[in-house]
Amino acid sequence: MDYVEIFDTTLRDGEQVPGCKLDSKTKLIIAEQLDYLGVDVLEAGFPISSPGDFKSVEEISKLVKNARVCGLTRAVKRDIDVAAEAIKHAKRSRIHTGIGTSESHMRYKFNATAEEVLERAVAAVKHAKSYVEDVEFYAEDAGRTDNEFLAKVCEAVIKAGATVLNIPDTTGYCLPDEYGAKMKYLMENVKGIHKARLSCHCHNDLGLATANSIAGVQNGARQIECTINGIGERAGNTSLEEVVMILRQHPNLNLDTRIQAKMLSGISKLVSESMAMPVQPNKAIVGANAFAHSSGIHQDGVIKKRETYEIIDPKDVGVTESSIVLTARSGRAALAYRAKNIGYELNKLQLDKVYEQFLVVADQQKEINDEDLPKIIEASNI
Ligand code: KIV
Ligand code: ZN
Repeated sequence: MDYVEIFDTTLRDGEQVPGCKLDSKTKLIIAEQLDYLGVDVLEAGFPISSPGDFKSVEEISKLVKNARVCGLTRAVKRDIDVAAEAIKHAKRSRIHTGIGTSESHMRYKFNATAEEVLERAVAAVKHAKSYVEDVEFYAEDAGRTDNEFLAKVCEAVIKAGATVLNIPDTTGYCLPDEYGAKMKYLMENVKGIHKARLSCHCHNDLGLATANSIAGVQNGARQIECTINGIGERAGNTSLEEVVMILRQHPNLNLDTRIQAKMLSGISKLVSESMAMPVQPNKAIVGANAFAHSSGIHQDGVIKKRETYEIIDPKDVGVTESSIVLTARSGRAALAYRAKNIGYELNKLQLDKVYEQFLVVADQQKEINDEDLPKIIEASNI
């Protein structure tokens, strides 16, 4: 079994979303939980961006016990100086520096030639290296960067001392086989690649961030950058809970993480409530409906044997149990099950009568809860 490192960027790429800004105290609470969760790297912020962010990164660095604390920078000397200062108290630290490498970024953002971008990348890594041993380089918009040039940049920054190469699909453009092929190309064509770790950083503009990250690790990457609940710029980043559970549900991939999955549900709620960013009910792993069954056919199966319609035991991700939701699509098995839970053992004849009455009420309201059930049973005259 090989380990994929989890690089959590909830407090950096996640927190930069409109409306998701957190105060320093809340960031510390979340950072501590992420540390208990078992993330390998915790990107605490972008220290040069504001005095408040600097302070948070500094305090997180003092607090975190196990994870490596990382600060983001552009390929700019002053950014790197400030990040180094912010993370200097961390037990284990990393500077994350980089520059755009796609045609579009080089031409329109930097008005620079490919050679100039390459020089700036190498200079940034060397400068970061003067502060810390562990330097991650990001080739922004790598998803749309020509593979040959990307390999040249990776080779040069490894020579300059980069320990991790982040290959971001910044715009969420790549298809999984394309992103996987990019990782494979780098594994096969970058001299010195064994000295560094390739990292997936995928955005979800086409709903492919998780699939792309998995394709990345299937092709040699050994770090995934992700956020709790998949929050992040625009349509979000790769969702931490999804990649962790995909690797755990597919042991044949021979890849795992060090994440304590039983904490996933709790930390999802903490992040969602702190940021006032609701989780969509049908979100994989942590959505309110992820373990809820409402159609009669599914309910009948789950009541007989949970595995008929669930591939994950809810307890494994910190959810107490699956729920059997009563709606007009529910069948007798679900009704009998829920009635029994609140103390009513119904025989076949009784169940038929109660079911008739149940359907009348269920057609009028979305869901039947435990307060409605006794009234329905009484109204059935059994
Ligand atoms: O999406 C991206 O390219 C980023 C980099 C700054 C790593 O977030
Ligand atoms: Zn990003």
